[in-house]
Amino acid sequence: MITKPKGTTDITGNDALLWEYVNQVVSTMAQTYNYEFIRTPVFESSELFHRSVGETSDIVQKETYDFKDKGDRNLTLRPEGTAGVVRSYIENKCYAEPDVKKYYYNETMYRYERPQTGRMREFTQFGVEVLGSNDPLVDAEVISFQYYILNALHIENLQVNINSLGDAESRLNYKEALVKYLEPHINNLCEDCRERFKTNPLRILDCKVDADSEILKNAPKTIDYLNKESKERFETVLKYLDILDVDYEVNPRIVRGLDYYDHTVFEIVSLDNMDTKANVLGAGGRYNKLIKELDGPESYGIGWACGMDRIINMLKEINLYKDVKKQVECYVMYVSEEEKMYALEITQNLRLNGVVTETDCLNKGLKGQFKQADRLNAKLLVILNNEDLSKGLVNIKDNATKDEEKVDLDEVVEQVIGRL
Ligand code: HAM
Repeated sequence: MITKPKGTTDITGNDALLWEYVNQVVSTMAQTYNYEFIRTPVFESSELFHRSVGETSDIVQKETYDFKDKGDRNLTLRPEGTAGVVRSYIENKCYAEPDVKKYYYNETMYRYERPQTGRMREFTQFGVEVLGSNDPLVDAEVISFQYYILNALHIENLQVNINSLGDAESRLNYKEALVKYLEPHINNLCEDCRERFKTNPLRILDCKVDADSEILKNAPKTIDYLNKESKERFETVLKYLDILDVDYEVNPRIVRGLDYYDHTVFEIVSLDNMDTKANVLGAGGRYNKLIKELDGPESYGIGWACGMDRIINMLKEINLYKDVKKQVECYVMYVSEEEKMYALEITQNLRLNGVVTETDCLNKGLKGQFKQADRLNAKLLVILNNEDLSKGLVNIKDNATKDEEKVDLDEVVEQVIGRL
């Protein structure tokens, strides 16, 4: 038997119902916030991720799916969505448009990780990227958008953990302080951290091996090294988040594991889900230097991504699928071949008029059809028999009250809709 590759999953049954439900909430909310849908390629040139996510990040060092195509090009399955969106923004010269670009996406990502709950090799992220504005209002808008999407999905006790890395000058000051602090301790950290110390000391702070070490817990905090401008900017973002009623906590430990961030960085957790390793439902930040680094003009960007798989796990924990159970509105029942032809036509007409309709396709008897209608939670039954049909009539039965009425065959669609 051929089985699925390690770290991938089939989305079926109740998970699939929740999946569709989340997609629907995300796209509806995206419309109300005026974000446009974007889809970028599943593979991009490898260089794009090396230059954006960062040469020394865990993702690029250990986790990308790289391959050469038949034309000898170095390609990589996208490990995250920001790089592709920014590449598209630059390549299509969207920066020349008069307004900011507000994108949302919902796509599979690929990282060669050690699979565990909420950590897959193929996973789906929905996310947003806003390009072209450095206004702290945008930071507050994107963070509140993430917060209220999860809120709309009935995930409770949400908290946004937020921090600022500051501008280039602040980050340089911080890097110096961090190096000075880490130097005497470096031999007590893991081999990867010793290497990161030489190449990119900031990445030591999101090391998965040394995460709980006292050395890292006592490391200097980025917010203590913000220059005046960066500090004021961060305070304004927090003020706007207060206005938008977002529950946040300033957490100076957050740096996020991607190199492109500056200023605001954040992650969102549900406090109901504190003990699991995969409790970060979504994360993001500002990346003002990235557009220039990818050969675009001086511009600004901020965004976030939420892990669909983690959110589905959370919704399963709170048993939400009970509320999004599939419901068929009408089930059309028949026995003879002649009745079947009517059933086929009536089913089609109901569907084309927007009624969720099913009929038998396994030649079940009436008893079996009643059972299937119950399994599908059908509200109404349209029951056909030759005798009634010869008089131009059909039976409509309410499957809850069991009330039954004969109606004109020609009016069956209107009659069904009127009873729903
Ligand atoms: P990230 O922190 O790498 O950020 O991932 C964002 C979210 O994706 C995580 O919080 C988690 O929910 C989910 N996630 C990440 N890796 C996995 C995995 N292996 N399995 C399941 N879920 C996972 C980014 O990807 C940035 N591009 C976010 C961003 C957008 N920053 C600015 N714009």
